[in-house]
Amino acid sequence: MTRDYIPVSTQFISSFTEPLPFDVYIERSDGKFTNIYKKNATHDEQQISRYEEKNIKNFYINREDKAEFENFLIHLSDIGTYPKEKILEILKTGLEFNYEHLDLNNSELETNLELASINVKNSIYLLEHDAAMALDVFKALASSTFLLKHSYMVSLFSVVLAKKLGMTSNRTLLSIGLGGFLHDIGQTRIDEAIFSKNTLTPKDWDEIKDHPQFGLKILDHNKCINSEVRTIIIQHHEQFNGRGYPNRLNNNQIFPPAKIVAVADGFCSLTANTSYRKTNKTPKEALEIMKDDLGHYDPEYLDIFTHMILKK
Ligand SMILES: [Fe+2]
Ligand SMILES: [Fe+2]
Repeated sequence: MTRDYIPVSTQFISSFTEPLPFDVYIERSDGKFTNIYKKNATHDEQQISRYEEKNIKNFYINREDKAEFENFLIHLSDIGTYPKEKILEILKTGLEFNYEHLDLNNSELETNLELASINVKNSIYLLEHDAAMALDVFKALASSTFLLKHSYMVSLFSVVLAKKLGMTSNRTLLSIGLGGFLHDIGQTRIDEAIFSKNTLTPKDWDEIKDHPQFGLKILDHNKCINSEVRTIIIQHHEQFNGRGYPNRLNNNQIFPPAKIVAVADGFCSLTANTSYRKTNKTPKEALEIMKDDLGHYDPEYLDIFTHMILKK
């Protein structure tokens, strides 16, 4: 697949009857792309059904239409009247698109991230067992573009690190994928103005530090969320040196998947170019900052993660 085109599921495109603000392509067997729908033109729904019958899973968007597509996805987060059964498809499509933002210049890592995206999608499928809850989760995360992207990136990098550490159990990888995806959902209960402040007061910090518990409260009644996912959410800010929050756990008291998510979280926050504080560090700079933050992360996990990111 060429990097000039972004895959979008056929199901996603077929869920819209109105004209779309971007061109839609199919990939022919010779690896070439053919435009099947012009932007802002009316769709032929029967034609889409025929593609679905032929088992074509993906259409494509030209990278030149990236901005229009992203605006379209963001606009969909205002989905009060949108049919619930389409929500997860939208969510998954939005996530695939976010993955495309990566530019790591490390082919082995990119392959591993691509493989991890399958685990992550499977994790998110778990939410489908409770469609109403999935809608709430999506609405909460999509209320902030940064948070939605951050959630997906942390989930992806957590799964890649877990595999590197030799974790192979499907259940564990699903829990890490979902735990990474939902780790900051509690932030949606915090006044957004706090995140855009340059300097935080002690009171602001106290509020931010409540987000792991808020996360558990939001997901309290969701039966799809197992105890491993809940532990990841509540422990993702605990630190190796016992100085983390909310419970100041020592290293050996912290659930290993929560330590994995903590490393991925630190890295994704520092490298994000859309975060509230625009940290925008290069991967190398981010890893140096994390290494200098002595005692925060599990040193073995951080070492393996560093090697995984920087190895060309
Ligand atoms: Fe967090
Ligand atoms: Fe985070």
